[in-house]
Amino acid sequence: MNKQLRKAVIAGNWKMNKTPAEAKELIEGIKPLVKNADCDVVVCVPYVDLSVVLEATKGTNIGVGAENCHWENSGAFTGEISAPMLTSMGVQYVIIGHSERRTYFGETDQTVNKRIRAALNAGLNVILCVGESLEQREQGITAELVAMQTKIALCGVTKEELKKMIIAYEPIWAIGTGKTATAQQANEVCAVIRSVIADLYGKDAADAFTIQYGGSMNAKNAAELLAQPDVDGGLIGGASLKPADFAEIVKAASK
Ligand code: PGA
Repeated sequence: MNKQLRKAVIAGNWKMNKTPAEAKELIEGIKPLVKNADCDVVVCVPYVDLSVVLEATKGTNIGVGAENCHWENSGAFTGEISAPMLTSMGVQYVIIGHSERRTYFGETDQTVNKRIRAALNAGLNVILCVGESLEQREQGITAELVAMQTKIALCGVTKEELKKMIIAYEPIWAIGTGKTATAQQANEVCAVIRSVIADLYGKDAADAFTIQYGGSMNAKNAAELLAQPDVDGGLIGGASLKPADFAEIVKAASK
């Protein structure tokens, strides 16, 4: 498999951080540091920050995403945001199925699938998150679990639509904990995901498919993780809130 064929994508996940004024400051800090990036750069931000960040990134190489979306286009779903609402603003990406949504907000593989299909229908690029808990890793079921999460999430997604998707492998035990998967662990599971894609859509689709690692990726460990044959990028939480660190990761992906 030729890694060079694939697009490297570094995406920030700001989670529930930054008011609009703070978001403006952060994105202005990031912009000049990543302007020569030789990879795709995306920031996924809270809904209330989207306007400000979209405005600030106009004409730059930074794509903008949301952190979730609902599966219906509109209706009685108090507190939710739909995919067409996002595209109407100019949003290009959305994260679906982040483990924090699965753990704290009752997201299931089935609702993840519904949200992905709605997002793709609206024309969004999707960053799907999959990953195991520490308990599941210790039980030795990581590969099976991640394969199952991937298969259910992709139900009804066509080969053409798959081109608008990225999968982020994010071991739950590595998120926000400072514990990173070893480069080998990250690569192993990313390779499992790629083989699932190959089974479902063929080798050509799998070879071209971007798979990220996420979970305490930072300026220090990014280069080693990104050098793995099946790791094509990163989904970055904590370090994406620090312009210099985020830029360092973008640089590591640009090599
Ligand atoms: P982290 O978060 O980089 O802070 O571990 C990654 C994520 O949750 O996407």
